[in-house]
Amino acid sequence: MRVLSGIQPSGQLHIGNFFGAIRQHIALQAEHDSFYFIADYHALTSNPAPADLARRTIEVAMDYIALGLDTEKTVFWRQSDVPEVTELAWLLSCITPMGLLQRCVSFKDKVAQGISPNHGLFAYPVLQAADILIYNADLVPVGADQKQHIEVTRDIAERFNNTYGEIFTMPKEHIIKQVAVVPGVDGRKMSKSYNNTIGIFESEKSVRKKIMRIVTDSTPVAEPKDAEKCNVFALLKLVAKEDELAEWKNKYEKGGTGYGDVKKRLAELIVEYFEPFREKRAELENNIDYVEKLLAKGAERAAAVANKKLAQVREVVGLRK
Ligand code: ADP
Ligand code: TRP
Repeated sequence: MRVLSGIQPSGQLHIGNFFGAIRQHIALQAEHDSFYFIADYHALTSNPAPADLARRTIEVAMDYIALGLDTEKTVFWRQSDVPEVTELAWLLSCITPMGLLQRCVSFKDKVAQGISPNHGLFAYPVLQAADILIYNADLVPVGADQKQHIEVTRDIAERFNNTYGEIFTMPKEHIIKQVAVVPGVDGRKMSKSYNNTIGIFESEKSVRKKIMRIVTDSTPVAEPKDAEKCNVFALLKLVAKEDELAEWKNKYEKGGTGYGDVKKRLAELIVEYFEPFREKRAELENNIDYVEKLLAKGAERAAAVANKKLAQVREVVGLRK
């Protein structure tokens, strides 16, 4: 079973991303033949500054490796290092009805937000289909917002297979279950668009400062408190062991414990939890050439699969073999 997914290089990862998605992503590699890439071609649809795109791409590569992606086990590469995928995207475009893309919710949402769409944004799902089909993926782990893109991929694959013969594997989505919404320091969902995040690789000092500022209610220290309604407790649940968590819950209910005490302990636990990842990340940061080498090796492994598939497709559509 081949598992494949693309990761958008979209800036600093926060602990909401980690507990909500990345952890599950990385866990899947242990059980399957896995292919993960950094979707830099897709990122171009929002016209990032060139230096930003290049930097974010290498940063997200370092982030994933530091968080446990094993580049021996997983084929891990930068999408644009295997440009054959864009040729397949063109070949698929020519059998993709406009209507199929016009119905895509993520495109419609962007337009509704007032973004004036470029053609790349419109064609985004076709490139995504090419990503999936060129590598013969069986299973595509994604967030719920990407479900429709996988359906579009199946639709395109089916049209192609019906027209030219059984060339493509039919992929299935694997929707990553949302364990819980991780709250940000202001109590809303942690999100880079709300500026309320705690970064996975942020300095220890900054993490502590942010945690001490998490919004809580104004129940006096002596009074009992409802742990389940508390943002600090919601974060504590992610990093504390069960028995410690039960102890804190008890303290909340009894009263006599201030939010400041819970925050201090939360900061300790979060710093401790991410410490090994932070160390690994710092090592990689000091050795970007090594990271580039790992990505180049990944691209070589990916290209071997892509070239084979593309040759088959070129032949069946009537191009030179
Ligand atoms: P952001 O809201 O910061 O822009 P993204 O939309 O890029 O985050 O999310 C990337 C992945 O991380 C998605 O799979 C999403 O479900 C998960 N994720 C993001 N924020 C949270 C959160 N606060 N709690 C749980 N999961 C989250
Ligand atoms: N569109 C995906 C996202 O925004 C990223 C992506 C690009 C992808 N190509 C893919 C995901 C192929 C899965 C498979 O998250």
